[in-house]
Amino acid sequence: MARGTRLELRPEALAANARRVRAFAPDARVYAMVKADAYGHGLALAGEALAPEVDGLGVAVLHEAAALRTRGYPGALMVLEGVFDSTELAEAARLELEVVIHAEWQLALLENDPRPLRVWLKVNTGMHRLGVPADQVPALLQRLDALDGVCVEGLMTHFACADQDDDPMTARQSGTITALAREYARRFSAANSAAVIRYPESHGALVRPGIMLYGSSPFPGRSAAELELAVTQRFTAPVIAINDVPAGEDVGYGATWRAPRDSRIGVVAVGYGDGYPRHAPSGTPVAVNGRRTELAGRVSMDMITVDLTDLPDAGVGDEVELWGDAVAVDEVAAASGTISYELFCQITPRVERVISPPDESTD
Ligand SMILES: Cc1ncc(COP(=O)(O)O)c(C=O)c1O
Repeated sequence: MARGTRLELRPEALAANARRVRAFAPDARVYAMVKADAYGHGLALAGEALAPEVDGLGVAVLHEAAALRTRGYPGALMVLEGVFDSTELAEAARLELEVVIHAEWQLALLENDPRPLRVWLKVNTGMHRLGVPADQVPALLQRLDALDGVCVEGLMTHFACADQDDDPMTARQSGTITALAREYARRFSAANSAAVIRYPESHGALVRPGIMLYGSSPFPGRSAAELELAVTQRFTAPVIAINDVPAGEDVGYGATWRAPRDSRIGVVAVGYGDGYPRHAPSGTPVAVNGRRTELAGRVSMDMITVDLTDLPDAGVGDEVELWGDAVAVDEVAAASGTISYELFCQITPRVERVISPPDESTD
C-alpha cells in the first residue's frame, strides 16, 4: 500500500486561468510565467496546458527555456534574468529566445559577441532589484539599436507593490515606464498578476502573469474564488492513526497544543519533509472528507496532527486536503506567514504527482 500523499494537478484549470488573464487584459499579448518549474506545478505539464492559450512563456533562467525547447515548445520564450555569460548568449540565440537585458554588463556581453537576438531592456522604476536606471535608457537603447541582428522588443519593468491597495509606488512605476515608452517610441511590459487585474493602464503591449494562472489570488484581501480563478492543485494525504486524547493532555513536539476537551486527534501522512509549511500553527485549516477542521499541534517532518473531535465518522485511511477545493492555498499561506508562491515551490519530490483527467478539472 502506498503512503498516499499526493499532489493532484489540473491542466484544464491552468488553461481556464489563462483565459481569465485574456479577459482582464484583452488588448495585450500574454506571456505565462512558468519559472521555478511552473510555480511547482511541473514545467512540462504547465507549459503544455498554457501554451495554446497564451502568446508566449516566461522563465527565469536559460536552462528552464532550454528544457521547454527540448520538449518541442516552438513559441515565444522570455528569459527574465537574461544570460550570464557568452556561452549562454550563444545558446539563447540558437534557441531563439527573448532575453532580458537588465544591466549594462549584459549589453557589453552582446556587444563583444553580437548575435541575432530579441531583447527586452529592463528598467529599474523604483523596485531596486533588476533593471537599468531610467536616465540610462536612451544611451542603452542607442547601443542596442546599433547591433546588427538585435531586435529590441521593448522596455520592461516589474512592480514592487501592485498587490497592495492603491499603493502610490505602483502609480509612480507605471508612470515612469509609460513615459519612457512614449518618449522613445517603444512597446512596454510591466504587469504581473496583480497589475493584470487591478491596473489596466499598466498592461502595455505584453502582460506577464504568474500566480493567478496557478489559481491563487495576488491580493491579501481578495480570494481566488472571488476572482473566478480555478484551483490548479490539490494537496492531500491520508489519516494514518487516530488517538483519543483526554482533556488537558498535550499533542506533538513541544507539547504546544493542549486538548481543551476530550479530543480525537488524527495523524496525517504529510509534514515539512513533503513541503507542508512547518510554520503552519495550530488552527490552520484542513479538510477531512471535504469537511473543514484544523491543525492541532506542531508540524513534524512526516506528519501533522488534526482535530477530528467534531468529525466522529472520520477514520484511518480518510483523505485530508491540505489545500485545494475546500481549503484555499492562500488561507494556509496566510496562517503560515508566507505566500502561496512559496508553498507551491516547496512541495518535495517524495509527494506523488497525479494529473487529473479533464472532466474533473473545471467544475
Ligand atoms: C519579472 C517578473 N515578471 C512577472 C512575474 C509574475 O508575477 P506574479 O506571479 O505575481 O504574477 C514575476 C514573478 O515573480 C517576475 O519576477
